[in-house]
Formats: sequence, structure tokens, C-alpha cells
Amino acid sequence: MLKPIIALAPMADYTDRPFCLLCREISGTDFVIYREMVSSVAIVRDNEKTLSMCEIDRREHPVIIQIFGDDPSVMARAAKIIVERFQPDGIDINMGCPVPKVAQKTKSGAALMKYPDLAVEIVRAIKNENLGVPLSVKTRLGWSNDGEIFDFAKRLEKAGVELIAIHGRTKVQGYSGESNWQRIGEVKKILGIPVVANGDIHSKEDIEKCLSITGADGVMIGRGALGNPWIFAKSSESIGLKQIVKTIIRHAELHIEHYGDRGIVTLRKHLVWYFNGDRTQGVSGIKKLRAELVRISNLDELNAILSSL
Ligand SMILES: Cc1cc2nc3c(=O)[nH]c(=O)nc-3n(C[C@H](O)[C@H](O)[C@H](O)COP(=O)(O)O)c2cc1C
Repeated sequence: MLKPIIALAPMADYTDRPFCLLCREISGTDFVIYREMVSSVAIVRDNEKTLSMCEIDRREHPVIIQIFGDDPSVMARAAKIIVERFQPDGIDINMGCPVPKVAQKTKSGAALMKYPDLAVEIVRAIKNENLGVPLSVKTRLGWSNDGEIFDFAKRLEKAGVELIAIHGRTKVQGYSGESNWQRIGEVKKILGIPVVANGDIHSKEDIEKCLSITGADGVMIGRGALGNPWIFAKSSESIGLKQIVKTIIRHAELHIEHYGDRGIVTLRKHLVWYFNGDRTQGVSGIKKLRAELVRISNLDELNAILSSL
């Protein structure tokens, strides 16, 4: 395993095959990709769309597929199906997602922090399948209290989890406040397995700062990678407008190759991220540009907007 571990965080509707492949093309092979979460129930029900979300391009590896659910036997079956059919480099269990559909309607995602016995049962059931790939967990500091993680993480480690990625916020915090890197560092001290720190890493400087504060084995980057697939690259050359435009065109190509022409609609949400950061702050008419990008309906419109820059 490369040290420090650098990972692209799983993000629903964002870390799909085209975006992951784009990050790989641009940033090389020294980071691990976490694909967006998939439902374990949908996998065992043979849902075509969910299964297709697990397809991996061979250029994308290493890739981890993340599953969510609250039924140990369903989770174990889903993990087995995914490993056998798609050969990811690891399986991750989502124990941090706060959205009501996942964490309130069911005991999945972040709700598992309230039901640690069930979380342990899920880990054990998946481990029993002897999948032959590592099993990791991605979680938060707790449901409402940022001290819950200590006991929770210890129990997961004991149950056989091989790596834990921690977003330094509680479920109740959602995305407010700051990711508590200090607390992640305290968790790192009590565990023997690798700990990956997550939350609020937006630059190469942040990567260094987070590693130094947490003493973690690696970092995981989510929003900081959106519209910014360069963040994992070794080189630190500054990115100009020309390169941004070229990258967007490549992203659009990969996206349409994967989803077909109608895929342009789901590309829109990515496009605005390319013009969000400091990098394009000085570019005139950026607000108008963003408004136009969220309305595009085909590739010609996108090309016309970009060539006007
Ligand atoms: C749009 C979006 C979708 C997300 N989807 C997932 C997901 O599928 N699984 C998961 O474990 N976390 C998910 N997350 C949480 C991120 O992986 C990450 O923990 C969080 O954004 C904090 O890291 P960041 O500050 O680097 O973005 C999502 C976050 C965002 C913004």
C-alpha cells in the first residue's frame, strides 16, 4: 500500500465511472478511487442500473466499491456479487451517510453509529464471505457526539475491518462547522489499522496540514476534487483557463461515452464546479457563464460556451 494513502471520496452522483476515469487520466495512479455508494438491496435484487454503476474500466484501478444497507446477510451477498462480477480492489461499508432515505428510513449509513451491534454484525457477515479483497468502513465522528467514534472504531477494528476513513464531523453537524482533524488524530492513536482522514481538504497544502495534524495514514478528498481532478497529481503546476476548458471537453466526452447523448443533463452539475474556485475568480462574466452551463442540452452548446471564453 502506498503511504500516505490518497483517496478520492465516494460522492453519490459524482464519483461515477466517467469522473473517476478523468481523475485517473489527469492525476496518475498514486491514489485510490472510492466510487459512489450503491444499495446492497438493489444489488441482490439484480437491479440493472445499480449493477451498471459498479462496472469498472480497467484503467481506473485501484477502485473501491462502497455499499450501504442495514441487513447483514443482504450486505454480505451484495459484497460477494460485486467482487465476483466487477473485481474491485476493495469493498467499503457506508456508515456515514446522513440523508434521511438512508439514515432515517433505514438503519443504514450514519444510523449504524447508533446501532453498533448491527454495524459489527454487518462487518462479520461480509468477512465470513472471505472475499479476498480488503474491507473498509467510512464513517463520521458520531451521530450527535464527536466522542462516539472511539468505541465504535475499536469495535469495527475488532470485527475485522482493515481500514477506516473518518469524516471529522458528526451526523447532526451535517456539513456545518469544520472537520475536526484533531479528533481524527486521537482516534488514529488508539487503532492498529490504517486511518484515513476526511473533510475540508481542498489543496495540496491542506493534504500536508491534515496529515501532520492527524498523524493519519492517508487523506480522502471529496468536494475538493470536484471540478478539480488535478488535486491528486504529483506536479503542482498552476492550472490555467485553457487547461480547464480542455479538461471539461474530455470530461464531457467520457460522460457521453458512458451515458449516451442524454447524459449531458447529468454533466451540468459537474460543470459549475470547474468555475467555482479561486482559479477562475478573475475571469470576467463567470456568473453568467455558470448560469449558461447549467442549462446546456447538448455538446454543441457546451463547445460554443467554452469557445467564447
Ligand atoms: C454530493 C456528495 C455526495 C456524497 N456521497 C457520499 C457517498 O456516496 N458515500 C459516502 O460515504 N460519503 C458521501 N459523501 C461524503 C463525502 O465522501 C465526504 O465524506 C464529505 O463530503 C466530506 O469531505 P470533503 O470535505 O472532502 O468533501 C458525499 C458528499 C457529497 C458532497
